Amino acid sequence: MHVLLLSDIHANREALESCLSSAPPFDIAVNLGDIVGYGASPNEVIERSRGLGKFFVRGNHDKAATGMMDLKDFNPIAGLAALWTREQLTPDNLQWLRGLPRGPIQVDELPSIQFVHGSPVDEDEYVVTLRDAVEPLLVSSAQVTFFGHTHLQGCFSTNHTVSEFFRPEYKTVGQKEKLEFPLRGGLRYLVNPGSVGQPRDGDWRAAFAVFDSESRIVTFHRIPYNLKRAQERILEANLPQRLATRLAAGR
Ligand SMILES: [Fe+2]
Repeated sequence: MHVLLLSDIHANREALESCLSSAPPFDIAVNLGDIVGYGASPNEVIERSRGLGKFFVRGNHDKAATGMMDLKDFNPIAGLAALWTREQLTPDNLQWLRGLPRGPIQVDELPSIQFVHGSPVDEDEYVVTLRDAVEPLLVSSAQVTFFGHTHLQGCFSTNHTVSEFFRPEYKTVGQKEKLEFPLRGGLRYLVNPGSVGQPRDGDWRAAFAVFDSESRIVTFHRIPYNLKRAQERILEANLPQRLATRLAAGR
């Protein structure tokens, strides 16, 4: 089975469209949360995401936009964007967003795999460093956990004695690229496909991944998209300028 992994789209429709038109054929799509927040196309991105299937976990920005989460934990810019998003959402999309499940979720055909937003231990936890990854790797019963939230593409692994991390290194800064990462037997993994709509690893290109459950290969992708249009939409919506400029920096 080929699983398309999308995370942290953050209402960036240009980035999402580029990913979908570059993605190889897939059997199911799993969305790891933060569909909205920051970007200027929340309804369009929700509708496109809903059309991709039924596998979702909720992100903290999805909760914030629906009022399910206190905005006091958000920085002022993220808080403003959450309130703006709430005003834009159609009643149907708001209700749909509110009904998204908390991770981990599983898919029947993929028994040893789970999907979360932050970590299997806490949906809002950031797994940024190898140190952050050790506990979730050791306590989770799944062999492979796909996660998002940090907007950093890559993965962590452990064999219970030694833990390692991997970040894809690409050759260019503006071309379409992909990189295969085979998962080895006997190891546990935490894998982040990266952020579609607001990467933070210094690479502005939209990120996603595809997992082949038979060969157990994760293919990481980076795709250029119409950055200028996404920025214009943010400025036209009177969202904070920083939300537009950061997209170009990939931070
Ligand atoms: Fe996010």
